[in-house]
Amino acid sequence: MCGIIGIVSHEPVAGRLVDALKRLEYRGYDSAGVATLEDGVLTRRRAEGKLVNLQRRLEGDPLSGKLAIVHNGIIENYRELRAELEADGAVFESQTDTETVAHLVNRELKRGLAPKEAVQAVLGRLEGAFSLAFLFDGEENLLIGARRGSPLAVGEGEGEMFLGSDAIALSPFTDIVRYLEEGDMAVLRHATIEIFDEHGNPVIRPVRRSTGKAFYVDKGNHRHFMQKEIYEQPEVLSHTLGAFVDMTTGRTRIPNGQTLDFSNVRRIALSACGTGYYAALVGRYYFERYARIPCDLDVASEFRYRESPLGDVDLALFVSQSGETADTLASLRYAKGEGLRIASVVNVQESTIARESDVVLPTLAGPEIGVASTKAFTCQLISLAALAIHAGVARGVISPERELELTRSLAEVPRLANEALALEDTIEALSREMATKRHALFLGRGFSYPLAMEGALKLKEISYIHAEGYAAGELKHGPIALIDDTMPVVVIAPHDRSFEKTMSNMQEVAARGGRIILFTDAKGAASAGSDMASTVVLPDMSEILTPIIYAIPLQMLAYHTAVQMGTDVDQPRNLAKSVTVE
Ligand code: F6R
Repeated sequence: MCGIIGIVSHEPVAGRLVDALKRLEYRGYDSAGVATLEDGVLTRRRAEGKLVNLQRRLEGDPLSGKLAIVHNGIIENYRELRAELEADGAVFESQTDTETVAHLVNRELKRGLAPKEAVQAVLGRLEGAFSLAFLFDGEENLLIGARRGSPLAVGEGEGEMFLGSDAIALSPFTDIVRYLEEGDMAVLRHATIEIFDEHGNPVIRPVRRSTGKAFYVDKGNHRHFMQKEIYEQPEVLSHTLGAFVDMTTGRTRIPNGQTLDFSNVRRIALSACGTGYYAALVGRYYFERYARIPCDLDVASEFRYRESPLGDVDLALFVSQSGETADTLASLRYAKGEGLRIASVVNVQESTIARESDVVLPTLAGPEIGVASTKAFTCQLISLAALAIHAGVARGVISPERELELTRSLAEVPRLANEALALEDTIEALSREMATKRHALFLGRGFSYPLAMEGALKLKEISYIHAEGYAAGELKHGPIALIDDTMPVVVIAPHDRSFEKTMSNMQEVAARGGRIILFTDAKGAASAGSDMASTVVLPDMSEILTPIIYAIPLQMLAYHTAVQMGTDVDQPRNLAKSVTVE
């Protein structure tokens, strides 16, 4: 699992643990396990694959050692530690890094240390990004948790305490939640929670009351979380917009009374991973066009390695739904080390990236459970659009009248998103043909280029159809060789300033028999001619909105294709929601 949960209670816990694991399953699910300590007997049950396998595995598997460990993340130096332990006589049952931690703690216990001191001694030796929970034989009133690089929260109940990877897992049990800071260790007993920082000093972390309702994890009337989240977009886009634009005056603002002065920003360095990266790419187009600020953009895993001179970069801007992605966090820390001001567009406000940023730009998408990001992506786009307008105003590039004009356009997003959702039947029909294909190309220019890549990513991650997104102009530089009458080519081309050029690219595709699925508006459809296999007509809209609204049919195309193919839409193979290792 990519999440952990622990309960110390007088009441039976196994059922609640499995329920909480279900709520964490969206984070990732290679395998799952539960360890319990009752009447002095430590038992554990584990199963590979999805959680349902664990539920089926009812027979107990008694644990031989003195403790049980639950672990999320990786211990990078476990090979050295394992060699040291083996030289010391330890016999290993598995190849896992988790077992190394168990042996290390056991060794400290044998040396006579108490559980808390034993864990403390071992934490100092571990390298990597992880969260851990420990149970000790004979210690029914004790649960120890520790975090480094991977989130962990502790929750307070009445006569029982909880720990878990996120507030979603804890929300059915309590709304009194504290987030551990980097390097913290927590000691939970029935009636108390003590937290220690990385130096072993007792510390108090603030309580964040979460409204259980906000984390109500339910598919409603939808077949999958992904579909539900696609449908939530009109509402969450409107909430997010409200954070960045005062809807009574039409003026942009930095949310929550924070300040972010763009007037003297010479250059912005943007970085993110996956879908967040495509949002940042749209963000780059927005900042360059509307605020005239040059931007650098990197996938977060490469930002550090490029060793770019950052001399004229005044702001580093990160985009992350989870706020826990290891590569994005590492980039953020690198930028901080280089003395840059840090802002981040994040959906999980309590996340590490949010906490380590100077300015937090919240997307109010609510919990996103489907592994494929949908509503978080469009909320990132609307935040970046509003931010770029705000920056343009601060720099005198956008007049107050133009600001109002642009924010009036943004205010149309919820209505337009609803109109895009109304295309579902058309898209579902298209998905039947897509589901018979093994490959697909997605093309777009300008604002639609990042969308072409996002559309391809969505399709490949949940349907497993190989898909590539390209700038339409790149077609003739290579990918055109792939085109024949079996290749579907999805073209995103609202009737904007680059429409005519994209049309010529489409003619090249049509001439080679490629099957074009065109997403455009009425004007675009009228001038596209008869070469299209299918045309999906979206409503007319201002240019700044096209990435936000055109994302929706692309999400639906990926969703329905995956449904046709019978894949696991919400939990596609090999993927985790929150990637906390580099
Ligand atoms: C794809 C998807 C991923 C994430 C990426 C970054 O649908 O969701 O590509 O966008 O793993 O995650 P965050 O935004 O949490 O940093």
